[in-house]
Amino acid sequence: MGDRSELNVTGGTDPSSSSKRRSISLRWKVALSFSILLILVTVTVAMALVRYEWIFLSKEAEKRADLLAVNLAVNARDPILAQDEMRFGTIIESIMMEEDVKYAFLLDNRMEVVYHSDANKIGEVLAGGVSKPGKSVIQKAVDIKVEGVMVGAAVVGLGADHIRSAMVTTIIGALVPLLVGTVLGVLGIFFLAGIHVKRIEGLDVAVQALGAGNLFIEVDVKSRDEVGRLAAHFNEMVGMLNKARQQVLKNFTETVSALAATVEAKDAYTRGHCERVAMISKAIAQRVGMNESAMKDLAMAAILHDIGKIGVEGDIISKLGPLDDLESDDMKHHPVIGARILSPLSTFGRVSLYVKHHHEHYDGTGYPSGLRGEVIPLPSRIIHLVDAYDAMTSTRPYRHALSPGEAIERIKEGEGCQFDPELVEVFLELESEGEIARIYDEVERSESALS
Ligand SMILES: [Fe+2]
Repeated sequence: MGDRSELNVTGGTDPSSSSKRRSISLRWKVALSFSILLILVTVTVAMALVRYEWIFLSKEAEKRADLLAVNLAVNARDPILAQDEMRFGTIIESIMMEEDVKYAFLLDNRMEVVYHSDANKIGEVLAGGVSKPGKSVIQKAVDIKVEGVMVGAAVVGLGADHIRSAMVTTIIGALVPLLVGTVLGVLGIFFLAGIHVKRIEGLDVAVQALGAGNLFIEVDVKSRDEVGRLAAHFNEMVGMLNKARQQVLKNFTETVSALAATVEAKDAYTRGHCERVAMISKAIAQRVGMNESAMKDLAMAAILHDIGKIGVEGDIISKLGPLDDLESDDMKHHPVIGARILSPLSTFGRVSLYVKHHHEHYDGTGYPSGLRGEVIPLPSRIIHLVDAYDAMTSTRPYRHALSPGEAIERIKEGEGCQFDPELVEVFLELESEGEIARIYDEVERSESALS
């Protein structure tokens, strides 16, 4: 909280607000980048093709103009020599039949127009030679020679309109498939970007889950590319974190077990008590179908159920005689003290709750909260029953141990008031099967081996 306040005071960016700010996703960035690239390449290629088409068509038109001019020159040679205007007209009209011919004319050796498709220009003298036409016309002029002597010239002008119309037809014809291809390409890029980015998104989800404390997350390694290697490294990292967590848990469990042992050490009469309570509680839990995770918490709570006695006066714990009311009240604080010791540790979140309520009675007359029936956590009800049986069958400074039979009778008397009746039934089953006695023997052997 302090850090956040400092950030606000200094005007720093609030990490939570910046994380909420929307930004373009990687999928969109990749898809847009490649789409722009595709469109640029498509436009460039299309422009190159149009340019090539224009050059090709222009050259073809020039060849045709050449051909027509040469043809006109050949046909006009004799009429030029004979100055036969009738034949001039026939030849020019014939060539003007061609759809793309704009004009055609004949010159004599003095550069006078002897015949022109435009009658107004007949008789003009082109002193400066044949002028160059505009861009809309492709003009070709061919000399008419007789035995090497120029006697005239034939000129043909082709309109460039047909080239433009051919270009327009080509562009329109190519535009539709080009657009369809580009749209399909862009859609394909988005689809493929989605496939590749989805793997990164999967990693992002896994990292978030890991950050939230899920150490069992694993991502699929579908390939050996960069993302695949990242996924593999992520899994390795999770594995290492799991190992480290297991080690920390082991160390912590050993430390807390050592603490629990110090409680037992304060009272020599309770030696092996926690171990027996844990083993019998697990046996009951298995019979009632408790899942593996809850069973682990139950076993831990059973081992640590009296850890709170660390906070109770040593004189009270080791007192050789029954406790007076004041001492008894102090002793009744141990479940809450135990829960306080364990609750700051997230790993023992549920364990601390089970420890807190391990002295609750089924009819609500227990402590510290006076919980009743099924409201009492099941592990707490199990521990309470087993704890009571073990206490009764253990020798206390102020009384002898009850026999298992006598303790069983007391348990039956507490059925429905102090103890959960269903758990009592399971406990009696285990007892009749000799499971309780077997556990006692096992703990006894273990304690003997240690001492
Ligand atoms: Fe206790």
